[in-house]
Amino acid sequence: MTTGDISPAAAGRVHKSANKPDNEMSVAFLAKSENESFARVCVAAFAARLDPTVADLTDIKTAVSEAVTNAIIHGYENDADNYVYIKCAITGGEIVIEVRDEGVGIPDIKRAMEPLYTSKPELERSGMGFTMMETFMDKVDVWSEVGKGTKITMYKQIL
Ligand SMILES: Nc1ncnc2c1ncn2[C@@H]1O[C@H](COP(=O)(O)OP(=O)(O)O)[C@@H](O)[C@H]1O
Ligand SMILES: [Mg+2]
Repeated sequence: MTTGDISPAAAGRVHKSANKPDNEMSVAFLAKSENESFARVCVAAFAARLDPTVADLTDIKTAVSEAVTNAIIHGYENDADNYVYIKCAITGGEIVIEVRDEGVGIPDIKRAMEPLYTSKPELERSGMGFTMMETFMDKVDVWSEVGKGTKITMYKQIL
């Protein structure tokens, strides 16, 4: 009875573990600039179980800072009476970080992601936020809809 060696239950578990993250967390906080450092430290603490190098941790913190700053100043236009949502998952040696707001949204994502582009030059923005996220993380996906909000998903392989 060779087929008896693989029970449906065991096959189910194998299938699930291939798709399900090893660990997940989510956090929500008010869109106040003082929460940027909280968000950065929070994600870094979660990432610590991957035993990242100091350089990897610095990259992750910088990318999270940029995404959270954007949610606060662009997404919510500094109206602190709104929440920024972060979700992180670790699967194998990879961390996936989602930073989401329910703010104004981005009308032209391609243009927004161009180096040096900023819609707020009067605030002396560098327009390098997305470029930094893309430089410090392996991959950055952007979902956005005008009037609905923006979700940035960033991937980084550690090890
Ligand atoms: N969460 C967001 N909600 C709305 N617009 C955004 C968001 N994130 C980025 N943007 C838009 O993308 C542009 C580029 O972002 P970025 O590269 O970080 O430069 P900067 O923040 O210096 O303007 C911003 O000027 C803004 O128009
Ligand atoms: Mg920015």
